[in-house]
Amino acid sequence: RIAGPCALVFFGVSGDLSRKKLLPAVYDLANRGLLPPGFGLVGVARRDYTDAQFAELVRQDVQAHARTPFREESWKQLVTGIRFVWGDFDDSSTFDRLHAALDKLDNEQGTGGNHAFYLSVPPSMFEVVVDQLESHEMVDQAKGWKRVVIEKPFGHDLASAKELYRVVSKAFPPESVFRIDHYLGKETVQNLLALRFANQMFEPVWNNNYVSHVQITMAEDIGIGGRAGYYDGIGAARDVIQNHLLQLMALTAMEEPNSFEARQLRIEKQKVLAAASIPADLDRYTARGQYVAGWQGGMQVPGFLEEKGIPSDSRTETYAAIRVDIGTRRWAGVPFYLRSAKRMPRRVTEIALMFKRAPHLPFDNTETRELGTNALVLRIQPDEGISMHFGAKVPATGMEIRQVTMDFAYAASFTESSPEAYERLILDVLLGDPPLFPQQEEVELSWELLDPVLERWAESGAPEPYPSGTWGPSSAADMLARDGFTWRRP
Ligand code: BG6
Repeated sequence: RIAGPCALVFFGVSGDLSRKKLLPAVYDLANRGLLPPGFGLVGVARRDYTDAQFAELVRQDVQAHARTPFREESWKQLVTGIRFVWGDFDDSSTFDRLHAALDKLDNEQGTGGNHAFYLSVPPSMFEVVVDQLESHEMVDQAKGWKRVVIEKPFGHDLASAKELYRVVSKAFPPESVFRIDHYLGKETVQNLLALRFANQMFEPVWNNNYVSHVQITMAEDIGIGGRAGYYDGIGAARDVIQNHLLQLMALTAMEEPNSFEARQLRIEKQKVLAAASIPADLDRYTARGQYVAGWQGGMQVPGFLEEKGIPSDSRTETYAAIRVDIGTRRWAGVPFYLRSAKRMPRRVTEIALMFKRAPHLPFDNTETRELGTNALVLRIQPDEGISMHFGAKVPATGMEIRQVTMDFAYAASFTESSPEAYERLILDVLLGDPPLFPQQEEVELSWELLDPVLERWAESGAPEPYPSGTWGPSSAADMLARDGFTWRRP
């Protein structure tokens, strides 16, 4: 589906996310023919650019980061609607200029008064921007639709998430608020719905009769790089568990929705989050760590406390793991272990369903030494696909069993290339189609789950150090060992 006439306004357009992901994604949409001729792209930032200088900057970002090849034709179409508005967000005149620029765009490009405001700014700026938009009469839904897009983190705890919602709701009704969790825009995450609900062979074993536990891993090899300002005081749990990983968990654990319409999906995800709990003994069922110097990819890398902009006594965790129990008939007794970290040996995100042992094994113990655990692994990235691990007879032996892998790889099965997550999500904003956007209720339920953990961590000293390039602190391994399991080494 092609978006209708509209203007997309980026606040914080000079930030990293805008330049590497958002602007290139807009170009990719244009290049794929998914943007209408009546389209405007407006950047707002505290820089003194002309429209032409800004357009040149966008062009550079597009050429460096877009997924699709650069084509003059698509660029020419896009560039006619590119505008720049300079100024501080707390300066009223910035919004006078923005108002004038949007009116002009509506006339020149025919964007029809439909405006999406993308707040790629720190949450502390949301209120300022929203208030300015409101006081400058730029949120009137009667003259074309008005939507607001916000990026995670949606607050830093339950109370601030509610406050943020209050701020945004002053100017925008709930159906006009789009919360971006870019994991939901990933093809492999959407494929989870296809895998589960388009097939007959998986769902019968997708429950506590067969599954012993589930491991959801989001490992990154990078450190925090230049993001000290954002990351310090936030940490792995707030950065990605509250949103990406709990969303992956909800999609894995939910019942079949009546349809993939936003409301139906939300109902099912919400039920999972409402049934989720973390065992009361938080010290045993959560773990956190902080990377110290180590070796990665043959290079020596600094520890978190040595990163530029990080105070030497920071207690921010760069590794977080929690156990979540889901109190439903399907999942009672099946722990979900969620972990995420920086400076792991490799970058990998996966959801692994680990199966119980067969109730009876008609082999002797030595024959099944290498049987391992039956597992279904959804490889979210980077090597997108699904693998199934099971035992097979080793050729030319008596009855020795060894674990083998059966693989589905996107790259081998499809010629179609996957769009970048932001492309899909930005298009959905312009179409006004929200199934892939978490709703406020889900955000609040996620914080309700996590708040006690974060409070506990805040009062219990420094996180456990782990060397960069390793799979994390020993307390995380102990956490699983207590339940009789071990973390996968993807
Ligand atoms: C972001 C986090 O949401 O996701 C970052 O804030 C993280 O800390 C990033 O690096 C990872 O995204 P992806 O798509 O590369 O897995």
